[in-house]
Amino acid sequence: MALDIQTIEHDVLVIGAGGAGLRGAIEASNAGISVGLVCKSLLGKAHTVMAEGGVAAALANVDDRDSWKVHFADTMRGGQYVNNWRMAEHHAKEAPDRVRELEKWGAVFDRTKEGKILQRNFGGHRYPRLAHVGDRTGLEIIRTLQDKSVHEREIKVYMECTIVRLFKDGERVTGALGYFRERGRFVLFKAKSIVMATGGLGKAYAITSNSWEYTGDGYSLAYHAGADLIDMEFVQFHPTGMVWPPSVRGILVTEGVRGEGGVLRNKDGKRFMFDDIPENYRNQTAKNEEEGWRYTQGDKNAMRPPELLTRDHVARCINREVKAGRGSPHGGVFLDIAWIKERIPNAEKYIQKKLPSMYHQFKELGGIDITKERMEVGPTTHYTMGGIKVDGDSQMTTVPGLFAAGEAAGGLHGANRLGGNSLSDLLVFGKRAGENAAKFAQENKAGAVAEADIESAAQWSLSFMDSPKGDENPYKVQQDLQVMMQDLVGIVRREDEMVKALAGLKTLWERAKKVQSQGNREYNPGWHTCMDLTNLLTVSEAVTMSGIRRKESRGAQFRDDFPEKSDTYAKMNMVIRKAKDGSMELIEQPTKELPPELKQVIEEMAK
Ligand code: FUM
Repeated sequence: MALDIQTIEHDVLVIGAGGAGLRGAIEASNAGISVGLVCKSLLGKAHTVMAEGGVAAALANVDDRDSWKVHFADTMRGGQYVNNWRMAEHHAKEAPDRVRELEKWGAVFDRTKEGKILQRNFGGHRYPRLAHVGDRTGLEIIRTLQDKSVHEREIKVYMECTIVRLFKDGERVTGALGYFRERGRFVLFKAKSIVMATGGLGKAYAITSNSWEYTGDGYSLAYHAGADLIDMEFVQFHPTGMVWPPSVRGILVTEGVRGEGGVLRNKDGKRFMFDDIPENYRNQTAKNEEEGWRYTQGDKNAMRPPELLTRDHVARCINREVKAGRGSPHGGVFLDIAWIKERIPNAEKYIQKKLPSMYHQFKELGGIDITKERMEVGPTTHYTMGGIKVDGDSQMTTVPGLFAAGEAAGGLHGANRLGGNSLSDLLVFGKRAGENAAKFAQENKAGAVAEADIESAAQWSLSFMDSPKGDENPYKVQQDLQVMMQDLVGIVRREDEMVKALAGLKTLWERAKKVQSQGNREYNPGWHTCMDLTNLLTVSEAVTMSGIRRKESRGAQFRDDFPEKSDTYAKMNMVIRKAKDGSMELIEQPTKELPPELKQVIEEMAK
């Protein structure tokens, strides 16, 4: 069948227009080459805005003891040492420059009294490190990058365009097929190199801070094109999402609330986080409420309150309280910032100034005034630490010409990401990926895209509406997947449950073959969901297989049946690869040995 497919050529194609994609596109365009930026949704609408509380960078503006070394050690400890240490090193060293650069480009950060960029406390960061704009930091970063890319650069933006297949010429990536949501028309992008900046997979779970776009597209596209995925078992459950009313369940409640002195309480009013402080954080955690409060007020001799322990730990403690029947009325716990009026004058104004989005979010969506009342919160699927495996210097994946950055790429955060490290990640590695993709495009001629490959991808897309295959409803399949992943591959995992999930995935794959969309190609979300299912199922399988194989508890992966860390898995990354027969295979790949100078940094910082 002759298909009407528009062809567009660029030197570099960036897929995904959140912070990593925008930063990558800006950098690639600096090379004076042609850059296309594909956006699944509207430009400016990206999960980047859900990193609200700040961007982590050792600027040392608020505490001069901070340095790249402390940031590096915090990131490695937070990730429980399965991180790609090379990425962690670049990240800690380069984040301050990336933040200052943003400021030059027009980002309006909150200020210290001396006029420096203000930094706040966040979980797992030893010193106040998060440069912020109230609780709208991600939004300000997107706004700044968007402004730079649209007004000062020759970057062609394709909005509401979803990519369904990557193409290769031999081993090397050469193009991608997409469709425009509005008209359902296909578009073929030919490119010398491609950057995946597609974000995460939150929509594989029932409760998530992610919006509809985050169906794991980048991981799945790269995997089916032959790229390796790494450590997909590490899915982050942010401790605080809204739990009530049901329509807003999962929406993020920034860690910035706890950074500003907010505390977690169970239904008896108890600060339960004091009951469970991990051994390796004991010498850095407050002994009592008074000390924790002094820390949030900038007392350099005080230790952090236990609410600012790492996210994996806080999420599990909340889970435990709820399961033990000590939760809030709607299945969460209480987050209380209103209590600070006992300590500071004009607390209501202070809260509204520091946390304006949270104030409005709870007022508008929950009918709660957070300056007076407690919030109800519970864990929400927020971020994927795993992702497409990349080279720690260039960000190139195992497929030549294919790069990845931001949440799409795996490695930097190891088993658990520290809050605020996502925004610095996307700035540092968006830039690196853009620069190296441009270099690759300059050093290589355009490759070919085979007609047969284009035809087959387009026919696959159309098969969901052209040929009557069955009577499965794509939304129902997606919903059943989300409920299953939440129940069986969630915060606390067990082998028997994950094995059940793998069997469930087999059934869902079968059902996905029978999904059918009604209507025509013009703005047809049912059709889009049929296609998204392949991505959702692919990534869910990768998460589940890796979760089963890692027989230990580490970071975001907590195994009820293997509650301890294992020395063997301490030195292993789980690599997922598409086998020759098309099945998914898992390889245990030893982590690279830390070089002596970085080992020394970690040892020094642990003192
Ligand atoms: O809680 C937050 O503001 C989220 C930050 C992040 O995910 O980095």
